[in-house]
Amino acid sequence: MGEKVDVVIREAVPKDAEGILAHLSSTALETGYMTMGEEGPGITVEEEQEQLAKLYESDNNVLLVALIDGKIVGTASIHGSSSPKLKHIGEVGIVIAKEYWGFGLGTTMMEELIYWANEQSKLKRLELTVQARNKKARHLYEKLGFQLEAIMPRGVRDNGEYLDVCLMSMMIGEIDETSRT
Ligand SMILES: CC(C)(COP(=O)(O)OP(=O)(O)OC[C@H]1O[C@@H](n2cnc3c(N)ncnc32)[C@H](O)[C@@H]1OP(=O)(O)O)[C@@H](O)C(=O)NCCC(=O)NCCS
Repeated sequence: MGEKVDVVIREAVPKDAEGILAHLSSTALETGYMTMGEEGPGITVEEEQEQLAKLYESDNNVLLVALIDGKIVGTASIHGSSSPKLKHIGEVGIVIAKEYWGFGLGTTMMEELIYWANEQSKLKRLELTVQARNKKARHLYEKLGFQLEAIMPRGVRDNGEYLDVCLMSMMIGEIDETSRT
């Protein structure tokens, strides 16, 4: 029988900055499925802290962290634009440390993001891009209701190879046709 581990999932706070950057840097080396590669996040801990502090003022951005024994092993985010014409769109990203793949953590974090989008944001559309070869992630997104909108040929280049990238989306809530705000 496998070992039981306790996972805490919560919204990120500024003091998570260093752990988040370390998590993203190490997972980028574990998988070719992230846009980030060995160049790393390209942002300092101080800059990340400032961005995390601003999340609380935003109604179209959220960043969740999953912790095991105090270490960040997963991040899941929705990033919304500040542009008035685009601020109803949230771009989704999720990264779980390889050691913890396949235990349902990705599903739980995505469910939390979708709940947040429905209940606590004014977002009307979630979207994401995923490499066509990333079958596990595509299965996860389809299972939770994302739909394939397009396949973008040469959407990413990894190890000298041009790869197809899928654009997927999920609509959030109804649109109030009388609202012009
Ligand atoms: C994609 C990712 C977030 C999934 O997280 P996870 O915790 O491993 O996911 P879960 O355990 O909740 O679910 C995995 C699902 O994929 C399924 N799966 C696993 N391998 C699969 C495969 N080769 N093809 C299709 N489905 C597969 C599992 O059966 C499970 O589905 P189920 O719940 O219906 O049984 C994680 O693997 C990850 O971070 N990968 C690296 C970064 C990445 O690819 N991010 C997404 C970029 S868009």
